Amino acid sequence: KYLKEDELSQECTTLLSTLPAERGWVTSALYNYQGFWHNARQLQGVLSCQKHFEAQDDDILLVTAPKSGTTWLKAILFTLVNRIRFPQTQDDHPLLSNNPHMLVPFLELKLYVEDESPDLSSLVSPRLFSTHLPYVSLPKSVQDSQCKLVYLCRNPKDTFISLWAFTNKLRLQEMGTNSLEQVFDKFCEGVSLYGPFWDHMLGYWHESLKNPEKIYFLTYEVMKEQPNLHLRKLADFLGCPFSSKEEEENVVESILKICSFDNLSNLKVNKEGKLPSGENNNAFFRKGKVGDWKNYLTTEMLERLEKICEEKLHGSGLKL
Ligand code: A3P
Repeated sequence: KYLKEDELSQECTTLLSTLPAERGWVTSALYNYQGFWHNARQLQGVLSCQKHFEAQDDDILLVTAPKSGTTWLKAILFTLVNRIRFPQTQDDHPLLSNNPHMLVPFLELKLYVEDESPDLSSLVSPRLFSTHLPYVSLPKSVQDSQCKLVYLCRNPKDTFISLWAFTNKLRLQEMGTNSLEQVFDKFCEGVSLYGPFWDHMLGYWHESLKNPEKIYFLTYEVMKEQPNLHLRKLADFLGCPFSSKEEEENVVESILKICSFDNLSNLKVNKEGKLPSGENNNAFFRKGKVGDWKNYLTTEMLERLEKICEEKLHGSGLKL
């Protein structure tokens, strides 16, 4: 499922040998590159997309912290920006037969890891991509162009539980599962995929305050609480507001319905399908609830996580 060391480019192998490394949650190692933790496979994709990705002014980039609701937002953004081409009420809507990850590809985990410089010329405008990259590691053309970024993160308590459950599904059977305690320490120390989680959030938070026209900052909880409001705001932000005719036809509600956890998780493609990279599509749908951490975290864990958030987010204005 993962590239072996000998399948990495010479550049990546050489770089890996110089980077701080820690034991990974799924793969043997995580490497610290530009202040954030990556596995070897994704680092190769990071280097390639930093070198070769040329953002266009009308591109839309969905940036998320892992396990913050990427799959959901991919579905929503795809349906939103393609609603003329693919009305969400159609029986053959692409979401009904494709996992959202196939419709909105990751730069560093799909496009630029499969090919050092993929041919993107056939993509229809506006192009829709996604990434988990921290702000400091974005390809330069993303910052230099007018392209828009939608950033999504989630309360660290639920993010952690979701990540723990997901990474255990990715581990090969003979590896056994990670206990909550084993990976909790790592998460708190910042050693998790694309972690430290607080630096990931803060990077985009600060940029979104400086440049609200470019970055729309969203949390899973806020989207869950007021999906209609935020879908309308996203449409405005992306320059495709809902018309009064669309409002009359309840397009907002019908987009949210097709993208809902219940709808997507019950589709055949998401129950039985697999991504080309090996993950079962159903691994991306677990509970889809806010506050599931209450079923897992001890009081001590909760206190430790809250203390970290208090310290790290202090003075930033970011509330989770
Ligand atoms: P849980 O593990 O808490 O259930 P990502 O897509 O970034 O990997 O995040 C996965 C999380 O989003 C999982 O959370 C998953 O259940 C939830 N999720 C997936 N699809 C969703 C949807 N349509 N609506 C709400 N949550 C969804």
